[in-house]
Amino acid sequence: MTETMEKTVREIAVECPATVRVFEKLGIDYCCGGRKSLRDACLTADVPFERVIELLKNASQANTDAGSDSWNSAPLEQLTAHIVRKHHGFVRSEVPRLRTLLAKVVARHGSGHPEVSRIQELFDAVAHELSMHMLKEEQVLFPYIETMWAAHLRNEPLPPAFFGTVERPIASMLAEHDDAGAVLAEMRRTSSGYTLPQGACPTFTALYTGLEEFENDLHQHIHLENNILFPRAIEIERNAR
Ligand SMILES: [Fe+2]
Ligand SMILES: [Fe+2]
Repeated sequence: MTETMEKTVREIAVECPATVRVFEKLGIDYCCGGRKSLRDACLTADVPFERVIELLKNASQANTDAGSDSWNSAPLEQLTAHIVRKHHGFVRSEVPRLRTLLAKVVARHGSGHPEVSRIQELFDAVAHELSMHMLKEEQVLFPYIETMWAAHLRNEPLPPAFFGTVERPIASMLAEHDDAGAVLAEMRRTSSGYTLPQGACPTFTALYTGLEEFENDLHQHIHLENNILFPRAIEIERNAR
């Protein structure tokens, strides 16, 4: 465990995907802010370091999150396909459902709970940004990474790209991930951590549950891109130069 203490949150999450659940539960940022040491991340999230070490130890022993361990070595076209199918698909199916719930809750409870109107504004903004962001990944960056990967497997030179180096579109995707993460963090603050008001109706409950699931899924989605897919693509490009 001494080794774990020295590592960044991102490194721990990449090496042992089962730990992601622990980070999620404790509100420790393992995607956009994952470059912090575990000790610093615990301070930021205000959780006792020793307790976190214990939970991480249990998680890595159980290692229940089967299937995602292999992303560190899986073919990159499988990883991009998984991200598009699982995470982009989730965003596309949840956005209209959550928009409908938000409209209902704002109409029924907006006067007594002004925070839901603010959450609606924030959600609309992040949903719009994410839809453009996912198109850029699906139409430009991911196809290029898949072509790079195929050339790498054949030991051929990497294909030329209009953006020069793959690090450029990746840098802009990273900045957009930070922006989306910041909006979701503001939604969480605005809702006091998705705490339901006394006697909340089923629609209000479904909304906060859904928004929390949306946030969790986005963290896992960004983790796969920031911490696994993008570093692997950059490494292939650097080695090919
Ligand atoms: Fe994505
Ligand atoms: Fe992304």
